[in-house]
Amino acid sequence: MGLKGVVLAGGTGSRLAPLTRVTNKHLLPVYDQPMVYYPIRMLVEAGIRDIMVVTGGDGAGDFLKLLGNGEAFGLEQMQYGYQKGAGGIAEALGLTRYFVGDDDVVVVLGDNILEKPITDAVQSFREQGGGARVLLTEVHDPERFGVAEVDGGRITRIVEKPQEPRSNLAVIGVYMYDNDVFDIVADLEPSARGELEITDVNNAYLARGDLRHAVIDGWWTDAGTFESLHKATCLARALRGGEQAAS
Ligand code: G1P
Repeated sequence: MGLKGVVLAGGTGSRLAPLTRVTNKHLLPVYDQPMVYYPIRMLVEAGIRDIMVVTGGDGAGDFLKLLGNGEAFGLEQMQYGYQKGAGGIAEALGLTRYFVGDDDVVVVLGDNILEKPITDAVQSFREQGGGARVLLTEVHDPERFGVAEVDGGRITRIVEKPQEPRSNLAVIGVYMYDNDVFDIVADLEPSARGELEITDVNNAYLARGDLRHAVIDGWWTDAGTFESLHKATCLARALRGGEQAAS
């Protein structure tokens, strides 16, 4: 079974207004590169070369100008999808069904940046024989994320942005799914905020007993708020040796 990659780069970026008034969030700079470069490189480094970027909004055409056929990543071609409106992460994933075909898929949110490659996690997913795999990391502000409750080495529940988190383990925006994910997405109902939630997808796999997880090494951040965008820039700068170069 093949493995394809999807980068989700839609949404309105409302938490970053006015930076996002005329620009898609994922095109904003994170240190010396556009934000969307980081998740694409993450997939390429993990050996995934068939990649679709799903975007939306007025700035959608800018992705084509920026990314072209993926030359900056050593790719021969890049696929694009278009999400009308802000129907949620799972809706955007559903739009990739024909691109993914019969394969499995690694999904990365376009504002997620990791210190370390996901190569080992992808290898573990390939070896687990179907189902889903999510990645966790400890955070100090779990109420901003999907939060996993873990008992005896198994996830028992994932709650999206809980007001009173029962753990500090965030589910990061890197998800690995077998092909059943598209049937799961097709059956989802919109949440209270009117979106198809990726946490509901993960809980559907959990209910089937098909959800595995690992805790990542190294740092992780999203970049969807002013604070996290600033943090992402500082971390990316350190990672790329900019701190030494500047001093
Ligand atoms: C989304 C997901 C959340 C996840 C987070 C990771 O939240 O809904 O479960 O923990 O990404 O970045 P959003 O940033 O879209 O609010």
